[in-house]
This record gives sequence, C-alpha cells and structure tokens, in this order.
Amino acid sequence: MKSILNIGQSKLIFVQNFILSTSYRSIDSLYKKEQGKVAYAAPSNIALIKYWGKRPVQLPENASLSFTLSECRTETSITYRKRKDSGSSFLVTFLFEGAPKPSFEPKIHTFFDRIAPYCLFLNDFEFIIDSSNTFPHSSGIASSASGMSALAMCLVEIEHELGSVLTAEERIEKASFLARLGSGSACRSIEGPITVWGKHDNIEGSSNEFAVPFKLKVHSIFENYQDTVLLIDKGEKQVSSTVGHNLMHGHPYAKARFEQANSNLEKLSKVIQNGNITQFIEIVESEALTLHAMMMTSLPYFVLMKPNTLEVINCIWNYRKQTGVPVCFTLDAGANVHLLYPEAHKKEVLTFVETELAEKCQNKQYICDCLGIGAKKM
Ligand code: PMV
Repeated sequence: MKSILNIGQSKLIFVQNFILSTSYRSIDSLYKKEQGKVAYAAPSNIALIKYWGKRPVQLPENASLSFTLSECRTETSITYRKRKDSGSSFLVTFLFEGAPKPSFEPKIHTFFDRIAPYCLFLNDFEFIIDSSNTFPHSSGIASSASGMSALAMCLVEIEHELGSVLTAEERIEKASFLARLGSGSACRSIEGPITVWGKHDNIEGSSNEFAVPFKLKVHSIFENYQDTVLLIDKGEKQVSSTVGHNLMHGHPYAKARFEQANSNLEKLSKVIQNGNITQFIEIVESEALTLHAMMMTSLPYFVLMKPNTLEVINCIWNYRKQTGVPVCFTLDAGANVHLLYPEAHKKEVLTFVETELAEKCQNKQYICDCLGIGAKKM
C-alpha cells in the first residue's frame, strides 16, 4: 500500500525542488490523523541587503540578507479535519483575532493554489485558520512576512502530523520554500537571527527557493542587535510591493542594482564577521536609500518616504556625528524607519528616540524590537 506521505519515496522528489508529482498521490493513501490543531508564532524580518525585483514564480533577482525580529510576530493556529469527500476547491475559514474575516479568504485560496503541488493533503481536509499579530493594527508594519511564515510552518507541521517523514531540517527548508510562494521576503522569517535568501557564491547552501541561516561567524557586537521601528506613517501604501517589484522589469538601472546588491552582500557578510560598525552603517544606509532610489527612478515613479522619514534620517545623522553612537537606519517599502544599534547603546538611543524622534512618529508610536531566532511552535 502506498501513502502519499510516506516520504521514503517522495523524499527523492522533495529534493528536486519540493515538487511532488500528482501521480504519486494514491487513492489508498493513509493519513495518520483525521483531525488536529497546530500553532506557530513567526516574526517579521528587516532586510539589510534588499530584495527588489523578481522573476516568476517569486524568485529573487539578487540575494538578500535580513535580521529576523523577535517582538513583531504573527501567531497562527490551524484546526484541520478530514473531509468526507475531497473536492477540487479548498475549504478554508479565516479568523483574525478570533473573528471571521472572509475578506482574507481569497488570499488564502490563491496561496493554497500555488502550494498545492507541494502539499497534497490540502484538498482532503478542511481548515480553520486563526491569526493575530503582536504589533498594532495598521501600523504600517507589513504582516505578510510574519503571516506567511507562520502559516507555512503550520502547514508543514500538519503534513508532519499526517505522516510525512521529512527530517526537522527538511521541514524548516520546506516551510521557507512555501512561505516564499506566499510573499517573497517571508521565507527569511522562518529562522534567525540572520538569514540569506537568493543564490550567492559566498553563502554556502544559499538558494533562490528558500532562505538559509547565515552560518558564518557573527561578531559579538551584533548579538541581540536592536531595531526600534519608528512608525512614521500608518496609512495604506500607495504602491504595493508586487507593483514595485514588477517595475524593475525594464528599469534602466536594474542590472547594475542586482549586481550591487550581490556585491554589498559579500561586503556585509565580512562585516558581520569582523564587527566593523562603520562599514556596517555605510552598507546598510546605502542599501535603504538605493531601494527608494529604484522606486523614484521607476516608470511610473513613486515615493514611499514621507517628509518625516527624511526629518528622522537627518536627526539620526546629526546625532551620530555629535555623539559617536553607532546608530543607523534602514527602510523597507514604506515610510517607517528602522533604527539599528548595538544593545550596549540601548539606553542612550532610547533617550534620543524619546526626546527627538517620537514627536516625528504618527501618534508618537514606535516599537522596540531586536534580533530573534525565527518561528516557534506554540
Ligand atoms: O516580500 P515582498 O514582496 O513584500 O517584498 C519585500 C521587499 C522589501 O521589503 C522592500 C525588501 C526586502 O528584502 O524585504
């Protein structure tokens, strides 16, 4: 008797880009369980080397490197139950903080369609997904990275409970692979504290299909590195990152940008090992401004920074010059500013935030976060 989740045979296929052929699915497949519940918390991440530009399906044009965060998380549980008849459409109910949110269900269906070739059980079960975020509603912090990685971890865990014999390491890799298909940068949230996504000659085991942890030495200065997220503008972004990525096709500076990102990753990889904070600051701030320069030089062009984004950047530069405190900034695809600094400088930087930067944030809001280790079972 053959079981679709008896990975003895499917492991071979799994290794080939996680593609399980549908012919492998057998009518007499056995699932170890008929119902159950799994739950994971997964954090957001902030890229230092930015991913901006992709090829189908969700493959990056350059390698990126990020810090996995700790406090900004999505917590997701999935209750699953075997269906009487497997159907061609998925049976999913989505709850946000315990209350039904049907508006989110089409997104889940699109994601399930995309990952169905890799998760053959999706049509045989019905699912209730319950998700909540630890960061405030519409804070301008994208929940796609934490949300998609928590969801992917839950699905891989369900597959495991149903009888998959993937090793723990393979499950992590598969979760990152699935999360990537939901939202590219989400693949970097599965593990921590530093991850790399995208094939890069200097990063052993790196892949365009999933993220890998940065395995080289990490200098002690980066231990528990702090990220204070300054919430400059909590409004909906005018241009989504999907649209932004697409505008890199035919962008006049695209080729040079992808090469620059790969070269910056190589430089940053050395800096992470040797702790040269001056170089760290230069690479990280240059990456942030280059990301936004790509947006401003796209056609149509657009600007996601707000006046206070620039005000804050100038305050950071002045403060660093006056005090010598090695604090720097990075930006994602929005107006918020991530303030990055060593833990040893936490006290004075938080005083700086309170006295000079908070007033430039919407409702004086900011979130104190730091490096984290990735998704956790709840
Ligand atoms: O994962 P997406 O499609 O939301 O794109 C994320 C893009 C940036 O946040 C701007 C950069 C990155 O590498 O995370």
